[in-house]
Amino acid sequence: MRYLTVALAKGRLAELAMDIFSSIGMDCEQMKEKTRKLIFTDEKNKMKFILVKASDVPTYVEHGAADIGIVGKDTLLEEGRNLYEMVDLGFGKCRMCVCGPTALKGRLDKIKELKVASKYTGIASRYFRDEKGQTVDMIKLHGSVELAPLVGLSDVIVDIVETGKTLKENGLDVLETVCDLSARLVVNKVSMKMERDRIMNIVDKFQRICKEVEK
Ligand code: PRP
Repeated sequence: MRYLTVALAKGRLAELAMDIFSSIGMDCEQMKEKTRKLIFTDEKNKMKFILVKASDVPTYVEHGAADIGIVGKDTLLEEGRNLYEMVDLGFGKCRMCVCGPTALKGRLDKIKELKVASKYTGIASRYFRDEKGQTVDMIKLHGSVELAPLVGLSDVIVDIVETGKTLKENGLDVLETVCDLSARLVVNKVSMKMERDRIMNIVDKFQRICKEVEK
């Protein structure tokens, strides 16, 4: 039997996913120790778990370096990769929003050449172009996006809002909601053909657990 490899988005999603893998009988103990190791093996179940940067999870899965991935819908929408999205895990819930100063609420379409800063320029461009029919000036950032409107780099940002704390502490507001987000389980297309039974067994168990948690 070959190893099945699971790519986990480093951080909170990986921790929650590990809890589920543990509860379905996988050995994730090594991973829970806070080390800098990036690859862990469960010999008994012939599983490998790799910790990767969230935005790289779809890449590992699409190329088949991982059979399964656990990643946020934001990353999937932004990366637009060719893979199967199998389960909405129901955790990591948050929203993709257009945010900025409260004074801009309801006025975005009136601003010519609206300057938009985001880590998610794909999602943001599609939203303004396809849903709003508005031409905008897109600025790519890699983090601390809330700074952009505060220092005049942009008028607004498109970013993830979970509790709203970051916006509040920086005097910004949600102006529009782009979409709801949560963690997803994704599968490589070839792996699904070659290892269908083992993968579907994991998918079914995840589905069952996630439904129970939602109840
Ligand atoms: C995300 C997002 C916001 C924050 C929202 O940042 O970009 O900054 O979380 O969460 P809140 O509504 O609960 O305050 P992340 O921690 O992923 O870091 P980043 O600066 O790299 O985007």
